[in-house]
Amino acid sequence: MRQLFQPLTIHNLTLKNRISVPPMVVYHWADDTGTVTDRQTEHYREMAKGGAGLIIQEGTCVERTGRLTDTQLGIWEDGHIEGLKRITDAVHQYHTPIFVQLHHAGVFGFMEDTVCPSDITCNVKGKEKQARALTIEELHRIQHSFVTAAERAVKAGYDGVEIHACHNYLISQFYNTLVNRRTDVYGKQPSLFALEIISEIRRRVPESFVIGVRLGAFEPTLADSIAHAVELEENGVDFLDISYGFEQRSYPEKPENYPFSDRIYAAQEIRKRVSIPVFAVGGITSAEQAEEILQKTGVDMVDIGRGTLVNPNWANDAKSGRDVGTCLYCKTCMWRVNSDKCPGRKLFFSK
Ligand SMILES: Cc1cc2nc3c(=O)[nH]c(=O)nc-3n(C[C@H](O)[C@H](O)[C@H](O)COP(=O)(O)O)c2cc1C
Ligand code: SF4
Repeated sequence: MRQLFQPLTIHNLTLKNRISVPPMVVYHWADDTGTVTDRQTEHYREMAKGGAGLIIQEGTCVERTGRLTDTQLGIWEDGHIEGLKRITDAVHQYHTPIFVQLHHAGVFGFMEDTVCPSDITCNVKGKEKQARALTIEELHRIQHSFVTAAERAVKAGYDGVEIHACHNYLISQFYNTLVNRRTDVYGKQPSLFALEIISEIRRRVPESFVIGVRLGAFEPTLADSIAHAVELEENGVDFLDISYGFEQRSYPEKPENYPFSDRIYAAQEIRKRVSIPVFAVGGITSAEQAEEILQKTGVDMVDIGRGTLVNPNWANDAKSGRDVGTCLYCKTCMWRVNSDKCPGRKLFFSK
C-alpha cells in the first residue's frame, strides 16, 4: 500500500492515513430533542478505535425545523454541546480527528411546511411534495444557523466541519439551477448562499479549525460542479468531499471503460482543477481498490462508508491484510432503520 496508509495534511491537521469514515446517520438511536445518546457515543468510539484517519460525524441539523426526521442529531442550540462533546472526547481518545457534518434538509425535511430556494414540487419518498420558496429573511436566518452551529462545533471540541452541500438537501437545492429558480442574487449566483455561510464561519472560528464541503458531483452537470469546486477553494475551503448532487442524479460523463464509478470520475476531474484535498466515495470494498483509486485518480482520501458499518475495524484490518468484511449493498441500508439487522455485519462477526 503506497498511499493508503500515508499521512495527509488538511489545512494544518495531519491525518494518519487516507481513510475517512463519511457521515452516516443512524436515526433510531436518538429522540426528538436531537441530543446525543450513549449508543451514538459508543458507535463513534468504536469507529475511532477502528483506525480510520478521520471521522466525519453524521448529518447533524442546524435548525430544528430543517430536520430529515424527528430523531436526527442536532446542533441548533447550546444544550446540544455537552452531548456532542462526549462524542469528540471518545474519538479523541484514539487520537483521531473528527468533523461534524452540518445539515439542513430543505424540501426533504420531514415537517409539513418545508422550504426550498424556489416553489417546486418534489418527489419525496414516493409522494409529491410542494415546497415553499424561502423568504429573504428566512434565508438569512438559516445561513446564520449554519454559522452558530459551527461555533458550537468549536465549543464541542470538533476539529472541523463539513458543510452538507450535496444529495437532495438545502445547499444542494441552492447550487442546482434546475431547482434554484430564484430571481434575486441567490438565484443569479447559485453558490452565494453557501459562500456567505463559509466566509462568516471562517471569520468566527479559530484559524486552525477545518472547513470542508461535501459537494454534489453533477449539480446539475460535472462542468458546473468543477466551477463550484474552484470557487470554494478560492473562498478558503480546506477540502472537498465529492458525492452525488440533487436527487442523486448522475450523468454518464465518465469515459467508456473507466474503471471506477461516475462519482469517483468526478472527484478525479475536480482534483485536477483544485489544490486542496479531495475525497472520493462510493462502493469501495477493499484496501486494494482504495489504493488503486488513490494511485490512478489523484484524489487524496477515500471514504469507506458501509464498509465501516459492517466492520468498524476496517482500517486496522486493511492495514494488517486481514478480511475487512463484505457489505451486501442491501436495497435500503438497515442502518437507516434497524442497525441490529445489518446482514453484512452479522456475517462478519459470525465468522
Ligand atoms: C445509513 C447511511 C446513512 C447516511 N447518512 C449520510 C449523511 O448523514 N450525510 C451524507 O452526506 N451522506 C450520508 N450517507 C452516504 C454515505 O456518506 C456514503 O456517501 C455512501 O454510503 C456511499 O459510500 P459507501 O459505498 O462507502 O457506503 C449515508 C449512507 C448510509 C448507508
Ligand atoms: S450489509 Fe446492508 S445493512 Fe449492512 S452496511 Fe451493507 S447495505 Fe447496510
